[in-house]
Amino acid sequence: MNLENICKQVIELTKSVGQFILNEKDKNLTIEVKGIHDFVTYVDKTAEQKLVDKLVQILPEAGFIAEEGTSVKKGDMYNWIIDPLDGTTNFIHGLSPYAISIALMENDKVILGVVHELSLNECFYAWENSGAYLNGKKIKVSEIGKVKDSLIATGFPYYDYDRIKPFMTTLEHFMANSHGVRRLGSAATDLAYVACGRFEAFYEYSLSPWDVAAGAFIVQQAGGLISDFRGENNYIFGKEIIACNNKVFNEFLDTVKTIMNN
Ligand code: IPD
Ligand code: CA
Ligand code: CA
Repeated sequence: MNLENICKQVIELTKSVGQFILNEKDKNLTIEVKGIHDFVTYVDKTAEQKLVDKLVQILPEAGFIAEEGTSVKKGDMYNWIIDPLDGTTNFIHGLSPYAISIALMENDKVILGVVHELSLNECFYAWENSGAYLNGKKIKVSEIGKVKDSLIATGFPYYDYDRIKPFMTTLEHFMANSHGVRRLGSAATDLAYVACGRFEAFYEYSLSPWDVAAGAFIVQQAGGLISDFRGENNYIFGKEIIACNNKVFNEFLDTVKTIMNN
């Protein structure tokens, strides 16, 4: 399988579907409420349909794990993990960032990831052993070595509020002991920004596979490290993720692990 070639086709696809999403931007969107903070519009659904239609042609044997459930076909070996619009709440409110996120899994391993942040037209991507790229240029995680010198990203949970107290304790700790904490509203973009060194660390819980699969892979290909809150590998389906540059990872994980697992 020529992953570089598949990646190029996926990038072209995110450009055309991204154009569709941008064209719908300032229109009066009908919003469906999935949960108190969880929205979906016809833009999310139509974008996902367009992505699925083309991805079926790119790799007919692959199945899908797609947020809006456009296709539930499972592949024997290959599966696409798709978020057609990560950052829907931003999109609805006319804010940035928002992104298309697409990963390809071979069995239980991600082998390709594309996160296309549409408001700045920044396309982050990688395939197995490729290194990571932003709009054609190689990117790396940052070289910062201490959490006190780091800019940290997170997201606020939509559910699982029983973990909110320890989470607030981690926030308090990082507010007082880093350059600051940001909440952008698109987990895929947060991960892409770790990959290119804008953030040193990102952590969040209550996430879904389509929020993280592509971005986490791009961070790894950019030299960063990923785990769940215990330092283990269950971060795609395990609903919690830490992504850091390789230098602050241990210090950052120690804090999150100690506070969140107590
Ligand atoms: C959301 C974004 C957000 C994160 C939420 C996700 P959506 O995805 O990634 O940053 O905090 O947990 O659900 O709903 O905009 O695709
Ligand atoms: Ca999402
Ligand atoms: Ca989404």
